[in-house]
Amino acid sequence: MANLVNFEKRGPIGVITVDNPPVNALSVGVPQGIMDGVKAGETDSGITAVVLRGAGRGFIAGADINEFLSPPPPGSASLDDVITCFENSTKPIVAAIHGNALGGGLETALACHYRCGTGEAVYGFPEVLIGIIPGGHGTQRLPRICGVEKALPLMVSGEFVPAKTALALGIIDEIVDGDLLDGAIAFAERIVAEGHPLRKIRDETASVPTDGFYENFEKSIAKRARGHLAPYKIIEAAKAAVELPFEDGVELERKLFRECLESDQSKGLMNLFFGERTCTKIPDVPRDTPTQNIASAAVLGAGTMGGGITMNFVNVGIPVTILEMSQEALDRGLEIIRANYANTVKKGRLSQDKMDKRMSLITPTLSYDDIANADIVVEAVFEEMDIKKEVFRKLDDIMKPDAILATNTSTLDVDEIAAVTERPEMVIGTHFFSPANVMRLLEVVRGAHTKKEVIATVMQLGKTIKKVPVLVGVCDGFVGNRMLARYSKQAYQMVLEGALPQDVDKAVFDFGLAMGPFAMGDLAGLDVGWRIRKRRATENAAIKDDAGIDDQICEMGRFGQKTNAGWYKYEPGSRVPIPDPEIEQLITRYCEERQIQRRPIDEQEIIERCIYALVNEGAKILEEGMALRASDIDVIYANGYGFPRYRAGPMLYADMVGLGKVYKAVCGYHKQYGEIWEPAPLLKRLAEQGATFNDL
Ligand code: 3HC
Ligand code: NAI
Repeated sequence: MANLVNFEKRGPIGVITVDNPPVNALSVGVPQGIMDGVKAGETDSGITAVVLRGAGRGFIAGADINEFLSPPPPGSASLDDVITCFENSTKPIVAAIHGNALGGGLETALACHYRCGTGEAVYGFPEVLIGIIPGGHGTQRLPRICGVEKALPLMVSGEFVPAKTALALGIIDEIVDGDLLDGAIAFAERIVAEGHPLRKIRDETASVPTDGFYENFEKSIAKRARGHLAPYKIIEAAKAAVELPFEDGVELERKLFRECLESDQSKGLMNLFFGERTCTKIPDVPRDTPTQNIASAAVLGAGTMGGGITMNFVNVGIPVTILEMSQEALDRGLEIIRANYANTVKKGRLSQDKMDKRMSLITPTLSYDDIANADIVVEAVFEEMDIKKEVFRKLDDIMKPDAILATNTSTLDVDEIAAVTERPEMVIGTHFFSPANVMRLLEVVRGAHTKKEVIATVMQLGKTIKKVPVLVGVCDGFVGNRMLARYSKQAYQMVLEGALPQDVDKAVFDFGLAMGPFAMGDLAGLDVGWRIRKRRATENAAIKDDAGIDDQICEMGRFGQKTNAGWYKYEPGSRVPIPDPEIEQLITRYCEERQIQRRPIDEQEIIERCIYALVNEGAKILEEGMALRASDIDVIYANGYGFPRYRAGPMLYADMVGLGKVYKAVCGYHKQYGEIWEPAPLLKRLAEQGATFNDL
């Protein structure tokens, strides 16, 4: 294991270097290597102290998360062994930190006797983000350093703090200017020369928090942590740091850690951790595919989406020329962007200076001549094929030859749009989600002719603008909305059969989604779909005959939150949905008129029909190659549709339920409801093989 951890002598100081790229995780072999280093220092009488550092990008980013999902054979040295080894050391051990000291990495540092680091280093306990708690005594040591009132928010949020904050909290003893190793060696020599004792945080006490602290803290995280296990286990462990002797606290931490590790939640979150990194890997577009430099952008349309998309670019310093049809639309769009930023400034999350800088990067225009030299243009005009085609013909005429032409269409065929240009290889879909400046998901739609360099550039750009880009194929609704249509259809169908909107929404909310389908409809606005349906109805008499409940709701002028009434009613200025007896009557009447026999529908059926509808369609999407992997679908649902992160997404959820069971239920619904539940052949195959989507 010599290559994972190295030991060298620098005068009287032993230097242990962890060298396990890319992030120096504590994979099998690393703990043993560190212990071997400490032993080498102990046995060499010429060595007075030891410095522990990381090679490459940072110190140590924590335990190897792969080893939680596929545990290595037992018997290898662990983080616990490293900590015991540090505690038994007779010579001072100094952590020298650059880059990241995270999770088990920070715990390793806290078990050292002293810590110093560069000014750019960051510190944190991100375990909570993968569904576990710090398990290397972190919950016991951090409250002893900075008090439970400061330690808990850090561990429960998983937030990374900069060096200056770490210094103020007492996590590190010194910030080193200049070369880190030289500084750390000098620090270690000073400790020895001045005869400082071996400082052991375990021997210190954690101060008792103010009355009511834990209750108030729990209240403050209630919304964010809803349904999550780990935040509450962290609170329990941190409390023990205050109330129990160190060893007992460690024992409790160990127990709680195991409980979290064995839960489905940590499996969900860990899979999502890797899913969010794997989604940028495209088999036929390797990482070394050349990419284009994106130094400027143009956005067409300053409406709901165009404004948000513009903000994404200027937020990271990419100037945008924004084009509209009229001065009025341009002014309105810019005013909304300005108001959005001003609101963030008001909340103290952005400085006025930064806002001014961002606004100064936006150039409004009515002329195509002003956008011709942009490196990428993102079209976000009305969702009409004829308009999109006209716009792309113009773009083809005026844009420089290597400009990327992107469309934000949500439903139209990207290939049909690309076909009107002489350069379909430069055309790609960038499907942002509303509000585009907030939602992290970006579906990158690969057209039949899109060039690999264009795909690589847009995937990279997605990361630059802080989105989670997922590659999808051209199909109706792409991946997310195509699946959502099946889910919404089931929700609506169950309202016809006997459930009320609030029953469906409650079941889905309790399952962990941010909101149910009917509350979501009210939020998004019911009128958009209604207008589309009305237009289609004028073209097709058969549809016109049977206006659905949703159409009737719109005919009553109830368009959702914007009119204070939709599937629910709302107090003016409030977003809290209130079940409305008027809607209940409408539903009952509607069913009576059509002689639909209503029946009670329980939560289990609601969840099965909503979620399995997603899964079945997801399986079809996978088989058609419209998504590259099941985990890509989960990433889409976790980042664009409010699916609970601790379940990863619908596909991993189905794997955990067992595809045999899911398939059986889908077959049952197929028998009962017909074609819409046609089982996906892939689901059938995997179920019969006893396999999972993850195995693919
Ligand atoms: N284990 C295994 N692999 C890891 C890892 C970890 N802890 N951290 C990062 N990686 C891998 C990533 O999967 C990725 O692999 P890939 O190149 O094959 O896709 C590669 O390292 C680089 O990661 P990123 O793309 O995320 O690189 P960034 O530079 O954007 O971010 C980072 C670096 C901030 C370290 C980020 O990777 C991160 O947050 N990692 C997780 C840190 C973490 O959760 N630590 C706690 C682990 S649990 C623990 O320590 C338990 C302990 O209390 C007992
Ligand atoms: P919007 O109606 O809010 O804005 C469209 C803007 O485009 C208007 O300001 C209009 O003046 C302008 N416009 C129309 N034709 C133009 C032209 N030829 N040249 C320049 N500007 C023109 O629409 P929204 O919601 O922003 O949608 C834009 C696109 O984004 C559509 O394709 C839509 O399907 C897609 N989309 C919308 C989402 C949403 O939630 N609103 C989500 C994801 C995609």
